[in-house]
Amino acid sequence: MNLISAVSFLMITVASSFFCGHKTEHSGFDKSDRNVTSRDSCDSPDAPFGCYFANMPSGLSGTMMIPVTGESADRLEITGTVSDKSGKPVEGVVIYAYHTDSDGYYSKSGNESGVQKWHGKLHGWCVTDSEGKYRISTIRPAPYPGNLFPAHIHAALKLPDGSITLINDYVFSDDPMVNSKYESGLESLPGGTGIMKLQRADGKWTGVRDIDLLN
Ligand SMILES: [Fe+2]
Repeated sequence: MNLISAVSFLMITVASSFFCGHKTEHSGFDKSDRNVTSRDSCDSPDAPFGCYFANMPSGLSGTMMIPVTGESADRLEITGTVSDKSGKPVEGVVIYAYHTDSDGYYSKSGNESGVQKWHGKLHGWCVTDSEGKYRISTIRPAPYPGNLFPAHIHAALKLPDGSITLINDYVFSDDPMVNSKYESGLESLPGGTGIMKLQRADGKWTGVRDIDLLN
């Protein structure tokens, strides 16, 4: 890595770490291939949120199985219910999520297309069932190198009417970087703060995040 590359990498690293929570950063932070060599309409770190759902497979279920082969981190399973403001469960909400790997990078498998070139290999989709329930099965992500921001999982929802909304990142209450400063910086989004309390048993972390839609 020459000096220019090293400086660029450092700038990307710092930007990705400090500005998390806004739509334009989480990307370009990848250890396997930062050079995008082909372009499509969703191939951008600032791609419209609709691009998050462009590659989702047909026949989604209530469980998102993020492919974690080769990752060394502990397993993590998140469950929850999506409900409307009256507390009624909402069926048919598609959830998209992506996160860093065991080392804190948005690493790639090499087969990604569209915005997933930027979000990396650890991503997936599911759809809430008739009881509004969903489940995410993955690994517990690592924070960005340098520990400047909490470990987190990004997520967006596609509602039955086709509208799309971001929700605050999933983060974990036992993370020292999840503090009052972090919480005060959160945006007002459906689904609350995203701060989850995890429990660990048999080498696996589990936690619940219910998502209340504001409208
Ligand atoms: Fe991120």
